[in-house]
Amino acid sequence: MKQPGRRDFLRLMAAAASASALEALLRQATAQPLASGQSSSPQAQNNPVRIGLISDLNRSYGSTSYGSTVERGVSLLLQQKPDLVICAGDMVAGQKTSLTDRQLAAMWEGFQVSVQRPLQTAGIPLLPAIGNHDASSQRFQGRYIYARERQQASFFWNQHRDALSPGLTEAINFPFQYAWHGPGLFLVVMDASSATVSSAQRQWLSRALNAPQRHKDDLCLVVGHLPLTAFSQGRARAGECIHDAGSLAAELRQAQVDLVISGHHHAWYPAEALGLRLLSLGAMGSGPRRLLGSNIASAASLTLLDWSVSDQCISERTLNLNTLSEMQPDLLPTTIVAPGFAEARRRSTQWQRTQRG
Ligand SMILES: [Fe+2]
Repeated sequence: MKQPGRRDFLRLMAAAASASALEALLRQATAQPLASGQSSSPQAQNNPVRIGLISDLNRSYGSTSYGSTVERGVSLLLQQKPDLVICAGDMVAGQKTSLTDRQLAAMWEGFQVSVQRPLQTAGIPLLPAIGNHDASSQRFQGRYIYARERQQASFFWNQHRDALSPGLTEAINFPFQYAWHGPGLFLVVMDASSATVSSAQRQWLSRALNAPQRHKDDLCLVVGHLPLTAFSQGRARAGECIHDAGSLAAELRQAQVDLVISGHHHAWYPAEALGLRLLSLGAMGSGPRRLLGSNIASAASLTLLDWSVSDQCISERTLNLNTLSEMQPDLLPTTIVAPGFAEARRRSTQWQRTQRG
């Protein structure tokens, strides 16, 4: 057997040092107290609720495994023990009609092994929003182009529906569109896996947001994969943002939604636009993108949102999954402007919700 040379030895030493440095950073990142200074105690009205927000995990088409930033992110979530995790889509690597049913099932199995099962075993519910690479709603001549992908996604998530059942409501079209409620929290997931959010879905959305399970003190989140406006370079074009976002935004404003969460643009940006508070999540996996007007690629990241029901305060922390350091909103562009899209202004990541009238 070939003995390792000096170069191999140095490379191994560097890898070991890097791994231990990351472990130390992970411990440091996870040792930080909650922003509110209180301990995380799930399922209690007067204690903070911690929500993990992730998005865009997938690798290349057909892939059944995940990269190091996804592994690190899952480890971080297991250590942080959020009360629930919401994924804003692109969990697997579909949107290719040549992928066989067997390949599609294998991708979801890979997702189960790497992400869903570790969280479920730790007692952390994972709530999905469907992305274009999971099961795009794009149609041609009235039919879903990726109908098989939609069947596979539906099959997978309905197998795991029981774990989410206590809070599920308005869930006839689960996992594509549904509402979920827990103590102090009301969540509506829409199918924004393509740019078309149909009028039927918009009507459903209005109904779901006014469901009797929604309490006036609840933090109300709406999650969909595609955003209402453009955030990143290469995505400021038709098909990459929700079509006719203005009228949808008006409905969400009227329903007094507190925060609209999206993925797909692979760039973290806490924004105000269209009279709404928005959060564009960074990708947890590969494919970082530059924000419009920025020369720096947005790092792989996840966001932790702490919600204190008693004082109605929200604190968001976004962690770089390469360095495990907290990302600073002050370093983001103050505005994002793209022709044909609503202007997005950077907002604070510490905020207080306005009680619903
Ligand atoms: Fe996407």
